Amino acid sequence: MRTYIVGNWKMNFTIGESSIYLHKLLKKITPSRGLQIAVAPSLIALQPLSLQLDRKKIKLVAQNCCAKDFGAYTGETAVAQLRGLVDFCIVGHSERRYVFGETDKDIREKVAACIRNNITPILCIGETESERTFGETADVLRDQLASGLADVSKEDLAKVIIAYEPVWAISSVKGARVAVPDDVSCCIDLIRKHLKSTYGKEAEDIPVLYGGSVSPSNCGAYLTIPGVNGLLVGASSLILDQFNDIIETAKRVRS
Ligand code: PGA
Repeated sequence: MRTYIVGNWKMNFTIGESSIYLHKLLKKITPSRGLQIAVAPSLIALQPLSLQLDRKKIKLVAQNCCAKDFGAYTGETAVAQLRGLVDFCIVGHSERRYVFGETDKDIREKVAACIRNNITPILCIGETESERTFGETADVLRDQLASGLADVSKEDLAKVIIAYEPVWAISSVKGARVAVPDDVSCCIDLIRKHLKSTYGKEAEDIPVLYGGSVSPSNCGAYLTIPGVNGLLVGASSLILDQFNDIIETAKRVRS
């Protein structure tokens, strides 16, 4: 299976800064078989960056979308409007769930809208610190998966990517901790088991990424966890050399 290294730039960089970053990144990286590199800039940068991109080297990712197909939804961007610009769309990131109050229903509809529009949703799931403390991690992961994928048919499963991102490990969260690979491994197992029991063998082909304080120094350990097919990188993706180091490690580890 492919390895995915996805940089989530969140609400950082102007259009100009995004363009300079991409220019430098394109110069640095060489395509590598089985490695998919992608970046998620701000919505406003998607169009200019799409013109500058070498899609054989890097794909574009939207950070969010609206599940509705066109209409009177001020301030929103339909997945249909992202067609041709992006190959992937992050859905249900914890900042969308907990800062902007997205519900399970919103997330389920966004996943379905992405699939309808031939854009691969990267469905983020993960427990909060308190859910973890109260021993609810397995239930939370199962519920978020079941709900996020409720409208996805077995045939469309191959069009989905899952990202496990424990909220307590996301670098911008107050008091964030770096997850040890054993913790990640347990949760990846839970996710894989749930997918298999729900969808059967087909679920083995669903890529599962890890995200949360990924850095050049810990990325190798996460990438060697069985069942992990790549990384969703926030803060470290904003620093070109760090992102490139992560890409280089991925090449080494997965070759
Ligand atoms: P982080 O962010 O790498 O800065 O922890 C990851 C994410 O929020 O996707």
